Amino acid sequence: MDLLKEKIVKEGKVLSDTVLKVDSFLNHQIDPLLMKEIGEEFANRFKDEVITKVLTIESSGIAPATMLGLAIGAKVVFARKKKSLTLSGDLYTSKVYSFTKQEMNEISVSKDFLSPDDNVVIIDDFLANGEAVKGLLDIAEQAGCKVVGVGTVIEKGFQNGGKMLREKGVRVESLAIIKSLKNNTIEFA
Ligand code: G4P
Ligand code: NA
Ligand code: NA
Repeated sequence: MDLLKEKIVKEGKVLSDTVLKVDSFLNHQIDPLLMKEIGEEFANRFKDEVITKVLTIESSGIAPATMLGLAIGAKVVFARKKKSLTLSGDLYTSKVYSFTKQEMNEISVSKDFLSPDDNVVIIDDFLANGEAVKGLLDIAEQAGCKVVGVGTVIEKGFQNGGKMLREKGVRVESLAIIKSLKNNTIEFA
């Protein structure tokens, strides 16, 4: 997706050999026009599938997932990372290990919002080691949903999440794949 790659080159900041900061349009400030294009591109990639629900995780997955939901007319469910006062009743939960924070987190989705009738696409902002996606796949499996694939805005191809998912037979559609961040340079695959 050329528009996204241009934005990454123009506004992305290489923080280290493994971390890219894209706060100006994805992780802190949102660029709605770019996000709309992202949603439409995901819709186009998955146009051969019937999708009844988009599943993501708070917080940065919500914007791209919502734009996909808008494009295809499907509801969007986001897994929550913290238990809240209103998040009660029966929940699907899964454990997600964060490499960046070096901690285990529990994510949950209410049983009200996923059912065995659902054909789900999983959306997230970054695909690094794939731990968040693994947790969402686990939740979809508990709910008995069919997962048609995973869409990520930026895949870091030098980390193992994409490989791990594709080897499991999961369809992964990434709108930009970064091959390397070495020497302060963003190299696409
Ligand atoms: P994984 O799920 O693929 O295994 O990712 P990991 O645990 O390594 O990442 C933890 C958090 O860091 C996730 O956001 C993920 O999206 C984000 N992340 C990973 N690599 C990068 C990167 O190079 N740049 C940026 N900007 N983010 C990265 P989170 O903690 O769930 O936060 P939120 O933004 O969704 O609230
Ligand atoms: Na995320
Ligand atoms: Na994130």
